[in-house]
Amino acid sequence: MERIFNYDVMDAIKERWSPRAFSDKPVSEKTLMTLLEAARYAPSCNNEQPWLYIVGHEPRVREKILSVLNPGNQAWAKAAPVLLLILSRKTFERNDKDNYWHMFDAGTSWGFLSLQAHSMGLITHAMGGYNRDLAREVFEIPEHIDIIAAVAVGYYGEKEQLTEDLQNREKPSTRKGIAEIIYPVKE
Ligand SMILES: Cc1cc2nc3c(=O)[nH]c(=O)nc-3n(C[C@H](O)[C@H](O)[C@H](O)COP(=O)(O)O)c2cc1C
Repeated sequence: MERIFNYDVMDAIKERWSPRAFSDKPVSEKTLMTLLEAARYAPSCNNEQPWLYIVGHEPRVREKILSVLNPGNQAWAKAAPVLLLILSRKTFERNDKDNYWHMFDAGTSWGFLSLQAHSMGLITHAMGGYNRDLAREVFEIPEHIDIIAAVAVGYYGEKEQLTEDLQNREKPSTRKGIAEIIYPVKE
């Protein structure tokens, strides 16, 4: 099924999707920093900026992130030249009180990163499929920091490099209609 847009949104939103066929083309340091710049400028509750990125660009860190992914994700994400692990501080820095909005803000930050990446001709694919306990151990992450998601970043490769099953899923997905995402308010 095709994506249908009833209203004309910006190109990056229209065109972004989450492929799995990464090429081995490297991502330059400057490009990667540009993506993190976009992530950095996301809005957040109280301007707390709770997000933290473990950046797997050089092989040592990249391999560590790869090692905590579920096997199903490892199968394709191993080709991505950059792997990120997104963390988020659960408490406000200024008073250590719970920050209810930290995941909301970390999500916004990754959203900015993914759209910036698309606008620069890169692809991104978020992953919730990883071993959280193992990630905490491998990266020695303290309890007041949540581990949210991993993200593969790079350039598009060849669909044929994927297994047949993944090749069949290698396309932009559809969405619910607008009416379905508007919560009904009773009279
Ligand atoms: C938080 C989050 C976790 C996800 N986890 C996985 C995952 O573990 N493996 C995977 O292949 N895709 C994963 N995805 C990708 C989603 O399936 C994908 O974004 C969704 O189907 C919408 O498709 P699109 O991004 O191509 O528009 C995840 C996406 C998000 C935002």
